[in-house]
Amino acid sequence: MDYVVALPAAGSGKRMGAGKNKLFLTLANKPILIHTLEVFERDPHCTGIFLAVKQEEREYIQSLLNEYIITKVKGLPNGGKERQHSVHACLKVMEDAEIVLVHDAARPFITHSVIRRLVKTAYEKGAAVAGVRAKDTMKKVKNGIIVETVNRDDLWSIQTPQAFRFELLRQAEEDAERTGFLGTDEAMLVERLGHEIHIVESSYENIKITTKEDLIFGEAIIKHRQL
Ligand code: C5P
Repeated sequence: MDYVVALPAAGSGKRMGAGKNKLFLTLANKPILIHTLEVFERDPHCTGIFLAVKQEEREYIQSLLNEYIITKVKGLPNGGKERQHSVHACLKVMEDAEIVLVHDAARPFITHSVIRRLVKTAYEKGAAVAGVRAKDTMKKVKNGIIVETVNRDDLWSIQTPQAFRFELLRQAEEDAERTGFLGTDEAMLVERLGHEIHIVESSYENIKITTKEDLIFGEAIIKHRQL
């Protein structure tokens, strides 16, 4: 089943503290952005990549796409102030497709197997997100004091990709824009419409490279996969 993907890559990576877009940092000598792009470049079901970039980084990103022969990028819109705006910019330039995936460019370890299950579920049910079960004991804390221990059995860490029927996501995005609602993921926008969202169990390897330690984990995951 075919799909197109929106990849927001226009963040500033403040929590990494690298002084530049963290997606340009390398894992196994290759930029994180390219690791992520290659997953979609190599998936025969991906028919187009729409990458939101910072205006001032466009030229450099274009040079990386040429160097690593990434051919499926069909749109490089300017990203926005928040991640949600960058995803919206991708949707605006996107060709019509039945299924759209939204995936953080900062998650290079997503696999074709999880993508396939997400696309199938979105096709059948409308909306599906990747997630993993919470591993730690989870507590709600206010002003440094525990107020509640939450039942872990019901808790999941939600990742990307998140897959949707195109029309559903477009409607959710337009509604969020009209009302000024800002969510931390696309599922939140679709939840507001009262639509069910299905979980596809993903992998703990599908980390978002966010802080310096994640670079160590990332190198370890690559090494482990090469064994
Ligand atoms: O900062 P964080 O890693 O949570 O951002 C997730 C993804 O969204 C990253 O790939 C980042 O480049 C992207 N992003 C964006 N536009 C923003 C903020 C983040 O495209 N304004």
